[in-house]
Amino acid sequence: MTDRDIILVGAGGHAAGVAEAATLAGWRIVAYVDQHRADWLDRLGSPQWFKTDADAIAAFKAGNAGVVIGVGGIDPAGLALRTDLLERYRSAGFACPAILHPAAVVSDTASIAPGCIVLAGAIIQPFSQLAEGALINTRAVVEHHALVEAGGHVAPGATLLGAARLGRHALLGAHAVILPSAEVPADTVVPAGSVFKGARG
Ligand SMILES: CC(C)(COP(=O)(O)OP(=O)(O)OC[C@H]1O[C@@H](n2cnc3c(N)ncnc32)[C@H](O)[C@@H]1OP(=O)(O)O)[C@@H](O)C(=O)NCCC(=O)NCCS
Repeated sequence: MTDRDIILVGAGGHAAGVAEAATLAGWRIVAYVDQHRADWLDRLGSPQWFKTDADAIAAFKAGNAGVVIGVGGIDPAGLALRTDLLERYRSAGFACPAILHPAAVVSDTASIAPGCIVLAGAIIQPFSQLAEGALINTRAVVEHHALVEAGGHVAPGATLLGAARLGRHALLGAHAVILPSAEVPADTVVPAGSVFKGARG
């Protein structure tokens, strides 16, 4: 056990990108939780397999490993499940560190809460904020002073322009844009490729 050991919760397609980001960022995946065995994880050192969260929580003492949520989410219910999982592990005493792919560009002045995931090629600009469990997918951009609320998902190639806001458990679809200072309400799906104008601040 080292302080870089981590448990991957969910081992579907999205988890592959999360696992790669975590590994490249220096984490070691020691276990994963999924109903199904994930052979693809064997190349990352054959982590231990647990079928349920309860089994993983029982097997690991909190503090022996961190937790990263590998479950994806493309609608408010799916995104709420991600934050519920985070809360479950955190209340069991597990740390849920932010995972930042080394090929993401993250400003020193950005605020990144626990449980956030920032994937390859994403850009997080100065004074932006990612609340707990925010998911910033491949090549997404969070411009200066923008805010992604808890459990919000910025899909691949999507952009929050300056001071824009994505609400809790909202999805900004692939390549969609939120105009400057516009606010997407909680539990909203912004269609892929669209421009969200909203009310301006
Ligand atoms: C908006 C979205 C949720 C609609 O999905 P849906 O409920 O299955 O909708 P349907 O495919 O039945 O289409 C419903 C209508 O919306 C339109 N529509 C669907 N997606 C659209 C999009 N991205 N932009 C504009 N219009 C869209 C359809 O043309 C259809 O119009 P019609 O009623 O005139 O025929 C979905 O298309 C989308 O954009 N999801 C986000 C995908 C994404 O970015 N995932 C991230 C993965 S990491």
